[in-house]
Amino acid sequence: MTIPYTSIVLAAGSSTRMMSQKSKVLHEVGHLPLLYHVLNLTPKAIVVVSPYATDVQNAVRKSFPNVQFAIQEQPLGTGNAVMAGLSSNFHMDQNVLILYGDTPFLQQETINRLLTFDSDCVLLAMHPTNPDGYGRIVTNSQNRVIKIVESIDATQQEKEITLCWGGCLLIKSDILKTFLPLISNENKKGEYYLTTLIELLSKTGHRVTYITTDEEELLGINSRQELAEAEHIFQKKMRRKAYESGATLEDPNSVFFAYDTVLNQDVHIEPNVYFGPGVTIEKGTRVRAFSHIQGVHIGEDCIVGPFARIRPHTTLENNTHVGNFVEIKNSLLKKASKANHLSYIGDTSVGESTNIGAGTITCNYDGFSKHRTDIGSHVLVGSNTALIAPVIIGDHSIIGAGSIITEMVPSNSLVIERSTQNVIQDGASKYRNKRKEFKSCVE
Ligand code: UD1
Ligand code: MG
Repeated sequence: MTIPYTSIVLAAGSSTRMMSQKSKVLHEVGHLPLLYHVLNLTPKAIVVVSPYATDVQNAVRKSFPNVQFAIQEQPLGTGNAVMAGLSSNFHMDQNVLILYGDTPFLQQETINRLLTFDSDCVLLAMHPTNPDGYGRIVTNSQNRVIKIVESIDATQQEKEITLCWGGCLLIKSDILKTFLPLISNENKKGEYYLTTLIELLSKTGHRVTYITTDEEELLGINSRQELAEAEHIFQKKMRRKAYESGATLEDPNSVFFAYDTVLNQDVHIEPNVYFGPGVTIEKGTRVRAFSHIQGVHIGEDCIVGPFARIRPHTTLENNTHVGNFVEIKNSLLKKASKANHLSYIGDTSVGESTNIGAGTITCNYDGFSKHRTDIGSHVLVGSNTALIAPVIIGDHSIIGAGSIITEMVPSNSLVIERSTQNVIQDGASKYRNKRKEFKSCVE
């Protein structure tokens, strides 16, 4: 049985170690901001933000409408940030779950485990291979938690401790409210650490316990290097998920996923494929090498690539083929249609079983606005056709290669728009002779 709780998520740090103009918690793992990974576990949280980080507030408000913001005026430390959460006068349940916005791999099951523990305060802990930078959990001979000491303040002996705190704890709210205002900032950084609270609790006879989980799950991201490590771990997880769904990755290490990539059974991914957010691929589809795919639903038994670029708001229905050097954006290709070579299809709807010839361009932009192209079913668009949008191409029509189409093409019509070919009999040798005469004159 779980207990009633309110979550406070800290996201107001100064992000110094990230060396970035952007707030640390907006840096992404698997194309999702670090903070979103955490808020997905607790979408109704109180999020502590800096008054200057309007980027954080705007981003969070958009995706998590139920979040409440508490303002930490200055980044005076994690204890001070929790204080800002408490002072905001939002309703607090009996227990407070405190989470840090820079730990993207935390799992719901682990939080659930924390929520079943009956203690004044329960810490989520780990034994990292490299404990540097993490707060060490100091215990006594009965394994009772005495305090947490920050890396920077730890003695040599304390640095040997491998039991570390992972930036998540559950505490009774009345205890938090009573003792948090009492913490001091007498430490090397001069900050109000949340971790200082633990010693205060232990000294006043409160029961502080801990549960452990994998170090990967509690990885805290403070620097670019840790961000890169987190991305690496994330990609490994997504590859595993792909295998479990029955997908084949020919060269797994060269395939990059976003947090929401969905590959169904018997999807086959060749080497060097990059998935941006919003990609779902149905059964039996093959993505050939060097394709960049984002914001697309790809149906069953399609072939995409090699070297295809599919951009957001695109749907490729079952059995469609999109070949090399084809870019598609904000478009629909209905079933069994093909665009196999060197084309740009933007803001377009293509009917069923239509063939788009090599080098076809939908000219969707007039320098001011974007316009749509509507191509019917069973159409043959000849190679090197320019379709000047807005334009409609009727079902079963055929467009001759090299045409520039500016007006509606009625159904079942044959359209050729090109200048007449001029043939001069023996013109080639006449031309060569002329050039030779000219050359000898000049010499
Ligand atoms: C913190 C813990 C450390 C723990 C580690 C786990 C403290 C003092 N240290 O260290 O014991 O092992 O996390 O990852 O808590 N933040 C604010 N306001 C502030 C300062 C920070 O909101 O004034 C936020 C940050 O945005 C971040 C979180 O609190 O999301 C943690 O801060 P960070 O600076 O990353 O702490 P660590 O040094 O990683
Ligand atoms: Mg951190």
